[in-house]
Amino acid sequence: MSNEMTDRESIFRYGVVGNPVAHSLSPVIHRLFAEQTGETLTYKAIEAPLDGFSETVERFFAAGGAGLNVTVPFKQEAFALARRHSARARLAGAANTLWLEDGALYADNTDGAGLIADLKKNHQVPLKGRHILLLGAGGVARGALPSLLAEAPASITLANRTVSKAEAIVAALTAAPDAATDTTPIAVTDTAAGEPRPVLSARSYTDLEEARYDLIINATSLGLHGDTPPVPPQSMAPDCCCYDMQYSIEVPTPFQTWARANGAAQAIDGLGMLIEQAAESFRQWHTTRPDTAPILTALRGKRT
Ligand code: ATR
Repeated sequence: MSNEMTDRESIFRYGVVGNPVAHSLSPVIHRLFAEQTGETLTYKAIEAPLDGFSETVERFFAAGGAGLNVTVPFKQEAFALARRHSARARLAGAANTLWLEDGALYADNTDGAGLIADLKKNHQVPLKGRHILLLGAGGVARGALPSLLAEAPASITLANRTVSKAEAIVAALTAAPDAATDTTPIAVTDTAAGEPRPVLSARSYTDLEEARYDLIINATSLGLHGDTPPVPPQSMAPDCCCYDMQYSIEVPTPFQTWARANGAAQAIDGLGMLIEQAAESFRQWHTTRPDTAPILTALRGKRT
C-alpha cells in the first residue's frame, strides 16, 4: 500500500448533501472548526440528484465516510432513510446530521439547538415567559419548535399560509409532549395561572391582528424569492426581536429589512444559527464543541 493511500484512509471524511449545495457555507465552517480543534478531516459539498439521495448517502458511507450533514430538500428523506433517530429528530420528522452507529444509519436534528444557541448566547434574546410567533410550518419550523418549547415561553403561535399544516404540527406535539428532548418534558399547556392555557397554537396570517409578540421568527422560504410573510407590523410588541432563519452575508434579508422598517428592536439573520447547528453536529461527531464566536466574526467580516 502506498503512503498516499494510507494517508487518505486515515483522514475522516465528512460532507453536506443537498440540491443545490454548491454555495453551502458548511464546508468552510467545518474546516474552520477542524483547524480550531486540531481534528484532521475533509468536508465536501455533495450534490445529490433529486431522485438519488439514498444512493448518494449509501455510497458515501460504504466508501468509509464518517458523517453527513443534510440540507434542502432532503431533510425529511434523511430522517426516513435512517434506522435510528434521536428524540429531537423524531419530533421534527427531519434530520440534518447522519452517522453510522453499530453499522446502522443514525439521524439527529441540530437545527433547533442551533437556533436556541444563537438567540440566547450570541444575541441575548430571552425566551422564558415570552410570546413567540413562528412563521412557517415546513421542515425548518418543525425542527425548531421542540427546542423553543423546551425554553418555557409563555406562548408559541405557529402561523402558516396552509393552516392545516400548522394545526397538524401542534396536534403531533400535543400528543407526544414528553418526547421533545431526551430529558426535558415540553409544557404544551400552562396551568400556573389557574385555567389550563395552550402554550402552542396554530393560526392563519389573517388571524394575527390582535396579539403582540416579543419574538417573531421567520421559518418560511419566502426570502428566497425576495418576499416576506404577510405579518401585520402591529404584531410586534415594543422591543420585539425579529429573527430570520435565512441568512445573507452581503446585505440584510428581506425579512430583516421589513423588521427594521417597521420598528423591530432587533433584526437578526440566520448565519449564527447555521454556525451553531454546525457546531452541534461537530460535537456529535467529534465530542468537542468548537468555539463559534471566531467563526461568526470571520464569516460576518465581509459585511459592513
Ligand atoms: P422547509 O423544509 O425549508 O421549511 P418547506 O417545507 O417547503 O421548506 O416549507 C416552506 C414554508 O414556507 C412553508 O411554511 C410554506 O407555507 P405552506 O405550508 O403554506 O406552503 C411557506 N411558504 C412558501 N411560499 C409561501 C408563500 N408564497 N406565502 C406564504 N408562505 C409560503
